[in-house]
Amino acid sequence: MTDHHDLIAPPADPEDTGSNPTANRTFGDIANARLNRRAALQGFLATAGLAALGTAIPAFGPAEAAGADGSSFTFKPLKHGEGLTHHVAEGYDVDVLIRWGDKVVAGAPEFDVTKQSVAAQEMQFGYNCDFVGFLPLPDGKGRTNHGLLFVNHEYTNANLMWPGLGTGQASALKASKEQAEIEIAAHGASIVEIRKDGNKWRIVQDSKYNRRVTGTTPISISGPARGHARLKTSADPSGTLVLGMLNNCAGGVTPWGTVLTAEENFNGYFGNAPDAPHFKRYGVGKTAWYSWPQHVARFDVAKEPNEPNRFGYIVEIDPFDPGSAPVKRTALGRFKHEGASVVINKDGHAVAYSGDDERFDYVYRFVSKGKYDASNRKNNWGLLDEGTLSVAKFSDDGSIEWIPLVHGQGPLTAANGFSSQADVCIETRRAADLVGATPMDRPEDVDTNPVTGVVYMACTNNTSRKPEQVNKMNPRASNAHGHVIEIIPPGTNAKDRDHTAPKYTWSMFMLCGDPEKHGGMYNPAMAEGQWISCPDNVAFDSKGRIWIGTDGAPSAAKIADGIWATDVSGKGRALPKLFVQAPQDAEICGPWFAPDDATLFVAFQHPGESSKSTFENPSTRWPDFKAGMPPRPSVVAITKKGGGPLGA
Ligand code: FEO
Ligand code: CA
Ligand code: CA
Repeated sequence: MTDHHDLIAPPADPEDTGSNPTANRTFGDIANARLNRRAALQGFLATAGLAALGTAIPAFGPAEAAGADGSSFTFKPLKHGEGLTHHVAEGYDVDVLIRWGDKVVAGAPEFDVTKQSVAAQEMQFGYNCDFVGFLPLPDGKGRTNHGLLFVNHEYTNANLMWPGLGTGQASALKASKEQAEIEIAAHGASIVEIRKDGNKWRIVQDSKYNRRVTGTTPISISGPARGHARLKTSADPSGTLVLGMLNNCAGGVTPWGTVLTAEENFNGYFGNAPDAPHFKRYGVGKTAWYSWPQHVARFDVAKEPNEPNRFGYIVEIDPFDPGSAPVKRTALGRFKHEGASVVINKDGHAVAYSGDDERFDYVYRFVSKGKYDASNRKNNWGLLDEGTLSVAKFSDDGSIEWIPLVHGQGPLTAANGFSSQADVCIETRRAADLVGATPMDRPEDVDTNPVTGVVYMACTNNTSRKPEQVNKMNPRASNAHGHVIEIIPPGTNAKDRDHTAPKYTWSMFMLCGDPEKHGGMYNPAMAEGQWISCPDNVAFDSKGRIWIGTDGAPSAAKIADGIWATDVSGKGRALPKLFVQAPQDAEICGPWFAPDDATLFVAFQHPGESSKSTFENPSTRWPDFKAGMPPRPSVVAITKKGGGPLGA
């Protein structure tokens, strides 16, 4: 989703500064933001200073260099620009794999944008594709040319789906009951079987795996909050079964072959909420961003006061078992989860990282109580129901402390409104406020590099940070372009790092934006016009190189969103190269590599989303470019002409 506060957020508060009322943010170091650019580059890119505490991150070195600038990438980068359609580096192909309305479930009707129905949409590919995960068949391992594609559908653009609504956010409030119900059906996720013939992918129609999860699919609730009084509603007096998942943004594939999909801006679907602290901290308010509360009673908080408490979780889905119910894992906390990525620690515990994407919100870690069982994937179902959720406290000295959010410890007591761990899991943000977590500049993806074991966090932007709120982790006031931080567990490589340790270190990987105009900081060898703006989703190829997708560059920097690739070590460290550009007004989601690095699956989300676009007159008609057909959010497969690993 593009900066929720500009295009999607309630118009009542366009200058929203986030919902975090605490003073955790105020320790500052303004001087750091004014460091001489070159001096700072030496400091953080070499990582000698901030990350020196018992860790080993390779600094600039002779390693993978392939080009004159030291980068290991061989493609010729694109130049910044914007355009009605996508662009990719020379020598590569972008093939549209599946679009909004394409058939998913066996028997789905052909898409007819003038005759959409709930029944059709429930069988067709949903709107605004976000997370993309590829799981090889038959069992999640091995094959690179046959597997399941899991895709989130984060939200809907009513004014691009329906004629006659006009422009802007408020237009979504005018949608009819049937349109609202179709929008609900266009949320959730799609699972499709895909095959590669030669160098081209195709959907396997009528596969038994093909499946839709929507805003009305029954989803069970597990973990500490299951059955809690605050999760009970008139339709579900047990507090154990909720209809649907909403605003599923990014996610991850677990080592046991399931998908974690993250509910992010769930607050926008609810209206008529009273002015209560537990609603306010999550942005649940009077006016919804959609027409839904007018038509569906459970989205009207005055009628169903506990329904919002049932959204904002990580949902686990087993795509290999089409009959299995998805599960909301409340142990991982409730907030605006951008995503969740799992790594198995050297001692067998499963560790999940998740960012809370709001201005001045936090990054979290969950460590499972039980251990991963590699011998039988089904034994890992439920591993994420018991364990310890912690929140990160960053310090200017380069350290991170993980503070456990455990009922009864520290301030998490009945006196502060936490009567059990269920309360901690339902009001996770308030629990984290009380223990002194560090407010960050909108944490998006938090993902572990499979080669180095270092965790990368994209802080997408935060234009509300004031000069007195600047610190070394968020070193710029009015941060319009974001930055990428390395979160470093103790150890030296992917095998021996300790993702359960109470203390880590961190270092700054890059400050985004134009080096000349916005204070961006990169490898000094970066070529003119290769800078990034608004990092969001990241992927690693099997060499451990990072590919960074952006969201919001058109409004922040007047350049198209895209994917930039860079080495993380050697002479090419923090040396981004623009590989692919999104079509007009679209952001980049996914991205996800096939195991052989020969395909990069990418979601182009919200093409044509701008304050002036309408169904009748969108800013682009990508990808069909047919009269009368609005833009269609789609997943594409990017391959190298003639095959072989991307970026070489
Ligand atoms: Fe849905 Fe944080 O992007
Ligand atoms: Ca985003
Ligand atoms: Ca995102």
